[in-house]
Amino acid sequence: MDRASFVRRLPKADLHVHVEGSLEPEMMFELALRNGIQLPYDSVAEVRAAYEFRDLQAFLDIYYQGAAVLVTEADFHDLMLAYLERARADGVRRAEIFFDPQTHTARGIGFPVFMHGFLRAIAEAEVRWGISVGLILSFLRHAPPHEALATWEASAPFRDRLLGVGLDSSEVGNPPELFVDVFRAAREAGLHVVAHAGEEGPAAYITGALDTLGAERIDHGVRSEDDPAVVERLVREQIPLTMCPLSNVKLKVFDRIEEHSLKRLLDLGVMVTVNSDDPAYFGGYILDNYLAVADGLGLDDDDLARLARNSIEASFLSPDAKAALLHEIDQVVELAAQGQPSPEG
Ligand code: HPA
Ligand code: ZN
Repeated sequence: MDRASFVRRLPKADLHVHVEGSLEPEMMFELALRNGIQLPYDSVAEVRAAYEFRDLQAFLDIYYQGAAVLVTEADFHDLMLAYLERARADGVRRAEIFFDPQTHTARGIGFPVFMHGFLRAIAEAEVRWGISVGLILSFLRHAPPHEALATWEASAPFRDRLLGVGLDSSEVGNPPELFVDVFRAAREAGLHVVAHAGEEGPAAYITGALDTLGAERIDHGVRSEDDPAVVERLVREQIPLTMCPLSNVKLKVFDRIEEHSLKRLLDLGVMVTVNSDDPAYFGGYILDNYLAVADGLGLDDDDLARLARNSIEASFLSPDAKAALLHEIDQVVELAAQGQPSPEG
């Protein structure tokens, strides 16, 4: 079995994907036309050519601009459904998906519009493709904490449809401690808690996210390597890192994939996972991310199966659902070792 088929057949969870970051240029044009919005580009090729980013902020500027084409419930539905169909083709069986309410509420688009669109797509995908999906409401850390609290209040009618809350956007200078109050409210409401930390920001933000926000997973966390005490803690407490290797190269967190910290941290015993982040902007979905680290860091099939197992373990699925998917991973690994294709063909 070739490597791409092996990775595709491994049941996987995508635990770090921003639905707004799955907006492909083709859909951007389609929605712009549908909604009478003028784009600053003339063609899909021109959009793709603009996706050269100096750093996280340069990306975010273009990402928020792109999201402006999302207006109606149908737009949010189509965006979510397209991501889920694409993810499923890569063997994603569980997706825990970020969305950024403030990007939409700031334009006068309310919770019912995007939530109904997302939820309708998710219900369809669960029936059609058997993919399991959870939504993580992500607060924008470049906006003031009182806005995050207002967003939390506005989410009240949809609270029972949320899996968790997260924290994203411009990291440096916007430490996790600013968002203690809103994260406490979310924890008290029984939601899971994750946070982006240690992407461009220092390892201290990882500690801050764990200690002050109660984060159960760290999104990115690649800079944990700068502080051995942080790495030691991640290993001891088996705190998952949701890494996104293609994103890190596109945003110049690492100059080359060969320099990525994933393999070093994996070998030290950190619960590392591979995810897609903003796949429409960074040149690939989850399979591309697995294959990029396999090639760039010399991972073997055991490493790849371990990453898939970690993704299931690090998900917020029930213990029974995790056990079933882990068992399927064992079967795929066994059949691959025998040189046979898996039962699904
Ligand atoms: N980092 C921070 N904020 C984001 C990202 C990211 O990778 N993607 C979308 N918002
Ligand atoms: Zn992210």
